[in-house]
Amino acid sequence: MGCPPDFADRAPEAPLPAPAPPLAARLLPGAGLDRTDIDTPLRRVGLESAAARAVGRGRPVLRVLPDVVVLKIGGQSIMDRGAAALFPLLDELRVLRRQHKLLLGVGGGTRARHAYAVALDLGMPTSVLAKIGMNVPVQNARMLQMLLAADGGVLISNDDFAHLPLHYAVGCTPILPGMPPFSFWEKPGPRGRIPTHRTDAGVYLTAEALGAARCIFVKDEDGLYDANPKENPQARHIPRATAAEVLAMGLPDLVVEPVVLEYMQRTEHLRQIQIINGLVPGMLSRALAGEPVGTVIDAGPR
Ligand SMILES: Nc1ncnc2c1ncn2[C@@H]1O[C@H](COP(=O)(O)OP(=O)(O)O)[C@@H](O)[C@H]1O
Ligand SMILES: [Mg+2]
Repeated sequence: MGCPPDFADRAPEAPLPAPAPPLAARLLPGAGLDRTDIDTPLRRVGLESAAARAVGRGRPVLRVLPDVVVLKIGGQSIMDRGAAALFPLLDELRVLRRQHKLLLGVGGGTRARHAYAVALDLGMPTSVLAKIGMNVPVQNARMLQMLLAADGGVLISNDDFAHLPLHYAVGCTPILPGMPPFSFWEKPGPRGRIPTHRTDAGVYLTAEALGAARCIFVKDEDGLYDANPKENPQARHIPRATAAEVLAMGLPDLVVEPVVLEYMQRTEHLRQIQIINGLVPGMLSRALAGEPVGTVIDAGPR
């Protein structure tokens, strides 16, 4: 595995935030029905109120791992194509992992879709589909990890975020099954019983939680088109758009889960995503070098 890589794309040092006034930590002793309390600014306000929202406003929000680049390796678009699609991409990754702190999130693909179809036929609710949907991405992540094991590939789970600095310190590349762990607690979605939060959402939310530098979706098309290019060869490529613009287009199908575009308009850190064609050699390297290949989607104004 060799020495820890010399990560080329370390984020610039953020300026130090202005010192914040100390938080009150005064105990308010009570007796009987008059409960003992802590004098916190959230003590007397509804947690959804404007007063609650004002608490902490203006303070910089921590980017936990600001120099990590999160890549989603598509399940159906890449993994399901086997060696022909994956091996050239792995050759690129073996070079790129020495220059960038990568976190690989992996999708489920056709086997997950089959499981969803059977579950829908059997009348399973969204919660059960979301639970079932967690399994296939683990299979794909495990295979990807084995393929990258000799190059420092390490399988991690959603509970392992606290160990990420250790993996990077020894030059490893963490690999995460992309399904978010909402499981039985998956929210009812607006578009039927298939879970709204699948592996695109899981990988994007991972990048956001870590305050990562970038989130790049590696799929099998050159990004977003105005129609599914597999069904419509006349589909027009859209090189750049905002999340709101894409949602307003009302396209019947998208290259990325729509919920990602919805969250992009609310998130703190990950204000841009990029979708690239991982079947074209060199595309991932170009994207990591900062080229706007594929489609770049911006969060747009807050
Ligand atoms: N408007 C669109 N633009 C581009 N691709 C689209 C569009 N609508 C649907 N697709 C399809 O989305 C696919 C990629 O999504 P998907 O297969 O879910 O990726 P993943 O493998 O990451 O799960 C492409 O193969 C493409 O056929
Ligand atoms: Mg998908």
